[in-house]
Amino acid sequence: MKIGIDLGTTNCAVAYIDDNGNPQIIPNREGERTTPSVVYFEEGTVVVGKSAKLVSVTDPENTVQFVKRQMGNLDYKFPMENGEKLTPEELSAIILKRLIEDAEESIGKKVTDVVITVPAYFNDAQRTSTQDAGRLAGVRVLKIINEPTAAALAYGLGKKENQNETQNILVYDLGGGTFDVTIMSLSSEEVRIRSTGGHKNLGGFDFDNAIFSYVADCLEEEHGIDIYDDEIAMQELREKSEECKKMLTTRKKAVVSISSQGKSSKVTITKEQFNSMILSLLNSTIIIMKSVLEEAEMEWSDLDKILLVGGSTRAKAVSDMIEAETGIRPSSELNPDEVVAIGAAIQADLLEASDELEQEPTVKSKSTKVVDVNSHSLGVLVHDSQSGEQYNSIILPKNTEIPASITRTYYTSVKNQEFLHIQVTEGDSEDPEDVWIIGDTEIELAGNAPIDSPLEFTMSYDENGVVHVFAKDKYNNENLGEIVIERKSNLSEREVNEKATKLMMLDIE
Ligand SMILES: Nc1ncnc2c1ncn2[C@@H]1O[C@H](COP(=O)(O)OP(=O)(O)OP(=O)(O)O)[C@@H](O)[C@H]1O
Ligand SMILES: [Mg+2]
Repeated sequence: MKIGIDLGTTNCAVAYIDDNGNPQIIPNREGERTTPSVVYFEEGTVVVGKSAKLVSVTDPENTVQFVKRQMGNLDYKFPMENGEKLTPEELSAIILKRLIEDAEESIGKKVTDVVITVPAYFNDAQRTSTQDAGRLAGVRVLKIINEPTAAALAYGLGKKENQNETQNILVYDLGGGTFDVTIMSLSSEEVRIRSTGGHKNLGGFDFDNAIFSYVADCLEEEHGIDIYDDEIAMQELREKSEECKKMLTTRKKAVVSISSQGKSSKVTITKEQFNSMILSLLNSTIIIMKSVLEEAEMEWSDLDKILLVGGSTRAKAVSDMIEAETGIRPSSELNPDEVVAIGAAIQADLLEASDELEQEPTVKSKSTKVVDVNSHSLGVLVHDSQSGEQYNSIILPKNTEIPASITRTYYTSVKNQEFLHIQVTEGDSEDPEDVWIIGDTEIELAGNAPIDSPLEFTMSYDENGVVHVFAKDKYNNENLGEIVIERKSNLSEREVNEKATKLMMLDIE
């Protein structure tokens, strides 16, 4: 069975296409349609979801939340009591395993293939981490797709009646941890992404933090108590801040009570206060929206619709701000918690998995075409032949339709050059300091060529937005094949295999 998984910062959802061809959310073992992305370690057992979220208040040291924010960060390790340390990929794989087991239990079939969604703004390292997490969980990742694209697929499916019409749609996705904006043209035959942008660390989590800091300051002022000294109280306040925020979508004010070291404070927060706390965060989302609009070469009036996705768009200030800026009342006709998983299931259904594990899935004929773009420019670091200075040479600018590849020729700098050092980058600047070096690789050359001999490089983004590099020695007319980029932020092949074996044994509650 193929399923679609929305692996969220705070919540996950899983969907599949039923025998009648309709997408359905698969409830988890608690019968709920979303599962909190929380893992709790308790002496030999691993608990995922709602129960883990509940204990996070009493035992914060043994719970992990918001692991999606750490994807592609090799420095992050979660220390377990037994001294073992887990990577973001392993933690995500634990969540995935639980989601998959629940889906199998509910549908009564084995899950073999999955489509996992990621924020459009995820870079190569974060995408590769997500693919690795899927492999660790023991399933084949058919495709990584962008969350807004998934939302568009789900939306488009409900709109089949407008056969010939093309609509320009902006998806504004503000979740728990990430913000994404995507502009796309949608017709009954295809979803074509025009431009995309976002922020990988901006979401409801930051709204909670604003309330958290405000209440912590009140506690400090009233009793001189520093909540940061009290881990349990901190976790409690984090939960209460989120509850308070949610309450403020329907109420004019909410009260947060917090106690630490025998002293307590009761803090009232009004909707106006909350709105002003998150004003600058919302302003950042508007700035990003404007640049995405510009990159699509559109005006607000070219948009037919603004779709809201992600739990944080339930805060009324969000739609008010968007309307004030664009003149368009955003539509909330989609279920913000479920639409991404539904879109992932639709995408999984569009792909025909081959029986050969190594083979790429093919697209079923006569189905909706999905044309996505890269969200980061791809380049290499090169030396200017005159000044000798190093700069970033952009090869595939962002918002290029993917899959895409481009070939460039570079020249050897010494006679009989034996090695070539390649540094592949993501980012828009020419300054090497301002871009992200995805990976470093040294390739061996034949060592027989005169200076200035041509080397041809083909760099590409595949369907998943993951980078590949191929090289050709033009002097010897020899194909050097795909160059394995040693990704600085990802697990090695060996680590993935080792960890996969370990995770297979794990019992998850
Ligand atoms: N009524 C509400 N008002 C404001 N925020 C809300 C409300 N309900 C849920 N949220 C917030 O929505 C966020 C979760 O949204 P969602 O489930 O879409 O995120 P996610 O998919 O886990 O994250 P991401 O897409 O960033 O990876 C949480 O921060 C939650 O507090
Ligand atoms: Mg989400």
